[in-house]
Amino acid sequence: MDLESARKRIRELSGIIDKHNYKYYVLAEPTISDYEYDMLMEELIELENKFSELIDINSPTQRVGGMVTKDFPAVRHKYPMLSLGNTYSKKELQDFDSRIRKAIGDAFEYVCELKYDGVAIGLVYENKNLVRAVTRGDGYQGDDVTTNARTIKSIPLKLFDGAKVPNELEVRGEIFMPHGSFLQLNEARLKNNEAPFANPRNAAAGSLKLRESKIVASRNLDCFIYNILGENLPFDDHYDNLKLAKKWGFKIPEFIKKCDDLDKVFQYISYWEKERKTLDYDTDGIVIKINSIEQQEKLGYTAKSPRWAIAYKFPAQQAYTRLLDVKYQVGRTGAITPVAVLQPVQLSGTTVKRASLYNADKIKELELHLNDTVIVEKGGEIIPKIVGVDIKHRDTNAQPVTYATKCSECNTPLVKGEGEALHYCPNQKDCPPQVLGKIEHFISRKAMNIESLGQGRTEILIKNGLVKNIADLYDLKYEQLYGLEKTIVNELEGTSKKISFREKTVNNILNALEKSKSVPFERVLYALGIRYVGETVAKKIAQHFTSIDNLMNSSFEQLLEVPEVGKKIAYSIILFFQDKDNLNIIDRLKSKGLQFETGEKSKKGGLLNGKVFVISGVFEKYSRQGLKSLIEDNGGKVTGSVSSNTDYLVAGENMGPEKRKKAVELKVPLINESEFEELLSNV
Ligand code: IVH
Repeated sequence: MDLESARKRIRELSGIIDKHNYKYYVLAEPTISDYEYDMLMEELIELENKFSELIDINSPTQRVGGMVTKDFPAVRHKYPMLSLGNTYSKKELQDFDSRIRKAIGDAFEYVCELKYDGVAIGLVYENKNLVRAVTRGDGYQGDDVTTNARTIKSIPLKLFDGAKVPNELEVRGEIFMPHGSFLQLNEARLKNNEAPFANPRNAAAGSLKLRESKIVASRNLDCFIYNILGENLPFDDHYDNLKLAKKWGFKIPEFIKKCDDLDKVFQYISYWEKERKTLDYDTDGIVIKINSIEQQEKLGYTAKSPRWAIAYKFPAQQAYTRLLDVKYQVGRTGAITPVAVLQPVQLSGTTVKRASLYNADKIKELELHLNDTVIVEKGGEIIPKIVGVDIKHRDTNAQPVTYATKCSECNTPLVKGEGEALHYCPNQKDCPPQVLGKIEHFISRKAMNIESLGQGRTEILIKNGLVKNIADLYDLKYEQLYGLEKTIVNELEGTSKKISFREKTVNNILNALEKSKSVPFERVLYALGIRYVGETVAKKIAQHFTSIDNLMNSSFEQLLEVPEVGKKIAYSIILFFQDKDNLNIIDRLKSKGLQFETGEKSKKGGLLNGKVFVISGVFEKYSRQGLKSLIEDNGGKVTGSVSSNTDYLVAGENMGPEKRKKAVELKVPLINESEFEELLSNV
């Protein structure tokens, strides 16, 4: 076959396959057998293999690019991605209705849709081709998850020909995981000794952030489109635009209904309050929208949500069960959380065995007694809560729940600060979860980046008495680590999994520890885990004092001179350095060669002094965070968008087209990974 005929056939086959995908995944009305479909796909794959120059990025064969995403770059939304005001009662809906009537009169129409409980997504199409998929993020900028969204079969990569598709189009919708896929996924996770997802929404959100699109494709995500945006929309009402979008290839809400008054809206609500249980996906309410776009525009927006739409949330599901016991969890900061142990009960599709009790005041407020019949509620949150007690069923001699006085992990008497809600275990140095918390913070990526010690390995070291604090990590020897192991048992499934320290693991750990000795002072300072000293504050303090000795010798007033350091932080720093054990740990870390001054850096620092960089895309050798740290460690600055102040745009694979365009326009040099390294060695 010659190139031209191949081009023609490829285009033809892609069109046919796209249509069949649409019939299957959007309309749920397939018209050919799986076998016939596979034959078409095979022919297309074969042709594309022969004529690879003809492969279109949006060909149906290219949904899973086998790409490993290193990062999900932040992208600014063209239109902010707002949320909806929530209502919980008819009365609140009547108020909404009155507000509307006051603003636009009585001639309007509502459209009711289900409110899908998943992850909001914005899909951008240019000339009918999907170019970007971005999560909501903070509403103004979200994460670019295009590679992963492309694997979702109900998201069209190319819109169908036909009238009225705007050249620039953005649609908004919800990515969700159907119940069937969710159950299957959790079953597989339990078998592999992986923690199951708490609900389909978390599973969808987690899947969308996976680095391997192949795995995302296997998660069977789905997507409803509920909002069409653009300057020149074909129709002047929402309903008709959505119906047309279905013809373009989108899967739109199934049970969308026009209602000409509030009574019809109430009927829709009461119907779906019951019937939603029959659906294969989670819904958490109804969305009520004004149909006319002109009227929508007239009503406008508040800072957070449109005035032309509102959500009615379904009441949280409740169940009655017995309180068997109250246990106390000790967090990594020593904070105590009381947890109710319950007689297992079914609630919105899951078995509830535990519920959060928040704090001592909550227990008092509920007047909880052991063996009480309690009302458990599951709203939007993952952990169910106890909202009340059925006193009628209380045993006559029932014992009131008294709050623990000692730490359940180390038996130290608990303390509670004046006016604070939570109790704490003050035994920071020996209480196992607190020791673990400190070490896990120390080894985390943004601190010392010794992640080979993660995933349960630190716990094994603590259990074996090899480390009690962060300084002990640097005394670890090959012989002590090699052969350590632990079996993690999954009680639910009766399965177990072994974590063992083999040669490769041990070498990785020791190498990472060695490498961490060149981590700059500001990150070491952050890694120490001084209360309230986060990443940014640590950076400011390091810049200000330039060494730990200067910092230790500084007074309360001198600390307050550092930008971003207020009284609370200053006090916490003073306390930290008053503690002899902390001083001892710092001495030991110093003797191991960790960076406790910015000296090293300032010698190197200045290499990129004053230079402003923008980073875009995915890199081979570095993560974006790694690249950012490297630039900053060498005196450069990293900003989010290209402007005339930008000195270099470091461009990786799949970089944002907007950034590239802007850089070319402003004549900002684009450099790749190796040119960047060259720059670092030449300057
Ligand atoms: S319309 C300007 N329609 O609910 C906001 N949203 O709390 C327009 N959602 O962020 C949103 N189903 O993620 C709309 N049928 C539906 C929806 C829906 C679910 C989500 C969406 C939004 C959130 C608002």
